[in-house]
Amino acid sequence: MSSVLADKRPTSKGQCEKGIEDFLTDVRRGLSESQKCIPCKYLYDDRGADLFDRICTLDEYYPTRTEIALLRRHGDEIAEFAGTNSCLIEFGSGSTHKSEILLNAFRNPSVYIPVDISQQQLAASVDAITHAIPGISVKPVCADFTTPFKLPAEVAEMNRMGFFPGSTIGNFTPSETHRFLARVIGILGSRASFVIGVDLEKDERLLNAAYNDAGGVTAAFNLNLLARINRELSADFDLKSFSHHATYNTREARIEMYLISQRPQIVTIGGRQFSFDHGERIHTENSHKYSLPRFRAIASAAGWRSTRAWVDDANLFSIHLLQSD
Ligand code: AVI
Repeated sequence: MSSVLADKRPTSKGQCEKGIEDFLTDVRRGLSESQKCIPCKYLYDDRGADLFDRICTLDEYYPTRTEIALLRRHGDEIAEFAGTNSCLIEFGSGSTHKSEILLNAFRNPSVYIPVDISQQQLAASVDAITHAIPGISVKPVCADFTTPFKLPAEVAEMNRMGFFPGSTIGNFTPSETHRFLARVIGILGSRASFVIGVDLEKDERLLNAAYNDAGGVTAAFNLNLLARINRELSADFDLKSFSHHATYNTREARIEMYLISQRPQIVTIGGRQFSFDHGERIHTENSHKYSLPRFRAIASAAGWRSTRAWVDDANLFSIHLLQSD
C-alpha cells in the first residue's frame, strides 16, 4: 500500500520469464566484475517497493517531503508554464500524489499520461488519480520510459509537460542522464516542458544519515535484494552474513550503497558459485547529487533550455523546469 509520501522508483516488478533470465544474467555478470555490483532496479520487488515507501516517510530521508513542499509552494507557477489545454506526462508512475498537486494547479481541461513498464503499477495509478481528481482524462502508456516510446496521437496538439519527480534521475549516471534527457525531447517534441526533481549536493553528514537511517529501514531495503535473489534465482545468500552501508563519494558527488560480506563465504546462484572475502562489497546503488549549474549544464548539452529552478530554504532539493525549442 502506498503512503502519501510514497515515491517513484525504478521498477522491475511483474517479471516474465524473460525478466527472470535477464535478472540471472545481470546478477551473474555483476558479481563476476572486480568491483561486484547488482543493478539498482532489482531492489524493487513488492517488498522492496514497500520498504522504499517507508524510506520516503523517514525523518532522515528529506527528499520526498521537501519536493512535495516545493510542489505545493510553486505549483501555480509551474502550471503557468503548462498553459491551457495541457497534458502532464509522468515518467514512471509510483505514487500519483505529486502529479495530483500539479494537476490541481493546472487550468482545465487537462490530461494525465502515466508511463510505466508495469501494467499493475499503471492500473494503480489510474485508480488513484481518478479517485483524487474525478473527471480527469487519463491515458496510461505501458512502456519502459528509459527507451523511446510514442505518446497518444491526441496529445500532439496539446501543451505537453513531462514530469520526473523524486530525483530518480540521480540513480542514472551523468552520461545516462544526458542520454535520457536528449531522448525525452524526442518523446515530448518541440515547445514542450519538462519538470524534474533533482537532489542537491549538501553536507555529507545529512546525506549519510538519509541513506543509513537509525531504524534500519534502508538496510532492510538493501538486504532484501539478496532475499529476492535467493527466492527468484535459487541462491543461498545468508542474509545475516552481509551488512548494509551507504557512503558519500565526494569526488563523484553521489551516495554509493553497498552490501558488505561479514566473513569469507561462497554463495551459489542458479548452480554457479561466487566467493566473497571478509569485507568485500557488492555495489547496489548510486544516488547522484547535483548543484544547480551542474544539472543545468547536462540539460543544456542534451538540448534543453533551463528556464527555472526552485529550491527550498534549506537548500536540500531542487525542481528544474526545462523547455524545448
Ligand atoms: C529512488 N531513488 C530516487 C532513491 C534515492 O534516494 O536515490 C532510492 C533510495 N535508495 C536508498 N534510499 C532511497
